[in-house]
Amino acid sequence: MRLLFIGDVVGAPGRHMIETHLKSLKQRYKPSLTIINGENAAHGKGITKKIYKGFLDAGAQMVTLGNHAWDNRDVFTFIEEAKWLVRPANFPEGTPGHGFNIMKVNELEIAVVNIIGRTFMSQVDCPFRKMDRILEVVQKRTPYIFVDFHAETTSEKQAMGWYLDGRVTAVVGTHTHVQTADERILPKGTGYLSDVGMTGPYDGILGMEREAVLHKFLTSLPVRFEVANGREQLNGVVIDVDRKTGRATRMERIQISDETPFLET
Ligand SMILES: [Fe+2]
Ligand SMILES: [Fe+2]
Repeated sequence: MRLLFIGDVVGAPGRHMIETHLKSLKQRYKPSLTIINGENAAHGKGITKKIYKGFLDAGAQMVTLGNHAWDNRDVFTFIEEAKWLVRPANFPEGTPGHGFNIMKVNELEIAVVNIIGRTFMSQVDCPFRKMDRILEVVQKRTPYIFVDFHAETTSEKQAMGWYLDGRVTAVVGTHTHVQTADERILPKGTGYLSDVGMTGPYDGILGMEREAVLHKFLTSLPVRFEVANGREQLNGVVIDVDRKTGRATRMERIQISDETPFLET
């Protein structure tokens, strides 16, 4: 069994990379489930119904979110019916949408959880204790559990990896938009990667136009960030899963850009 996870899709350039490469990636890796983090898909902030449907049409089965979940108000018009859209599970009680979901794929049930960190981020419920409560429910159904941990710091991400080792299939970080090279299988079989990276502009700063970000750093004045143009990239990870145990056996990072092109085989 195999999972494919694509990091934060940023704006039109990110969506363009999904349209261009997802089909070939799926042909090459033949994942049982493909997951996209779409928190930045609408002009860098949030997601719309059209974009969510576009991801499903392009070949994703689940779409996760993050701290930008609510930035495009269109999300409130469809999130309750968007079965395969998963927002951070530790958002306050009563928040629209759901924090995990289970999809049946060829007789296997695969759970996808989206959970958000607290260090240098808005205050939300404790992600560690929330995971305990989610696992009480989910582990009764399936050993195949993918966790998108949307957090700022590597320390909080590593802590979550170790906290969930042996209890879930993989803990993969999102949010920093920079892919880390620390993929590993933890001792009890949980696959771990601090951050999967982003999909979108290659020459921006975390996907945004460099000039505006630099202006902000140089002047501290309020600045409107726009999604960058130009060269594009796609970042993701493939996780091989032991069918019997549900634990990870191998992880392969994916980086597609002009400098590391995707070679059709
Ligand atoms: Fe993001
Ligand atoms: Fe984020």
